[in-house]
Amino acid sequence: MSEILDIKDLEGVGPATASKLKQAGFYSIESIAVSPARELEEKAGLTSETSLKLTEAARQLVKIDFISAKELWDRRSSMLKISTGCNSLNDLIGGGIETQAMTEFWGEYGSGKSQLCMKLSVLVQLPKDQGGVDGKVLFIDTEGTFSPQRIYSMTEAVGLEPEKVLENIIYARCYNSDHQILIADNSFKLCHEENVKLVVVDSLTSHWRADYVGRENLSIRQQKLNMHLHKLLRLAEIENLSVVVTNQVQANPATFFGDPNRPAGGNVVAHASTHRIHLRKSRGNTRVAKITDSPCFSSETEANFIIAESGIEDISDNEK
Ligand SMILES: Nc1ncnc2c1ncn2[C@@H]1O[C@H](COP(=O)(O)OP(=O)(O)O)[C@@H](O)[C@H]1O
Ligand SMILES: [Mg+2]
Repeated sequence: MSEILDIKDLEGVGPATASKLKQAGFYSIESIAVSPARELEEKAGLTSETSLKLTEAARQLVKIDFISAKELWDRRSSMLKISTGCNSLNDLIGGGIETQAMTEFWGEYGSGKSQLCMKLSVLVQLPKDQGGVDGKVLFIDTEGTFSPQRIYSMTEAVGLEPEKVLENIIYARCYNSDHQILIADNSFKLCHEENVKLVVVDSLTSHWRADYVGRENLSIRQQKLNMHLHKLLRLAEIENLSVVVTNQVQANPATFFGDPNRPAGGNVVAHASTHRIHLRKSRGNTRVAKITDSPCFSSETEANFIIAESGIEDISDNEK
């Protein structure tokens, strides 16, 4: 796969043009290569000649990867699965959270999204024969809800050494959407060198919603979010790791019938997520998971689980 190049690597792009391009939402050579020259002209305020020259140069630089279906098959066969520690949830998603993919858990406040992310951050560290993939974690926390104390409790429950588990979770507190872009950009080297097998973004959309308020900012917000998501997907593929993101619900006032709550982020997030799983509260500490979008898993079934001191768990027979 081609490496991600910076727009400054493009011939004819000095600091002034780079800044114009970035302001217009063109952050990578790829984004220039796949855009019509006229778009560069209109959005970045460049002359038509410069726009044409830049798109052509970008297209030459970006390597298009042609691979055989056999290579694709081989790549997919190296896909790993991380157990959620919960049989009902594992059954729902074909055994565990896939690498080379982005899995999105969306749901209202308190539905268990963060608890699930923390549990996965522990279980990914288990050896392969125990449902893990023996890897480290990059945990991008946008809401400040990551809790080392919860990791401690979850770790003790599976018999791992808490101090070691905590050390293997690389934590990044993220303060705004530009910071989130920066963290993702810097994570390629980190994930490769540290054998990171799980990247968590909890939550994916909160900063974007806060930073770009109003209809006039919607288009630039979606454009930047889209690029961010595609970087994360690329990271998942290149490093054979799982990207797990959480997403909040967004009320859709146009809905008269049915559930008015949809995952935030619109089509951009919908298209980028490989698997989307809705979490909702049920009685007491019980939660219900349901697939809402996936190329290979059925959306007919639901999985029930509970949130306990040891993290998310199956409902034991006497609690059913
Ligand atoms: N130590 C614990 N033992 C049992 N349940 C817990 C514990 N800590 C948090 N919870 C439960 O987890 C829920 C919050 O889940 P969380 O993952 O933070 O939701 P969100 O979807 O908003 O991220 C709360 O309902 C809380 O009762
Ligand atoms: Mg949360």
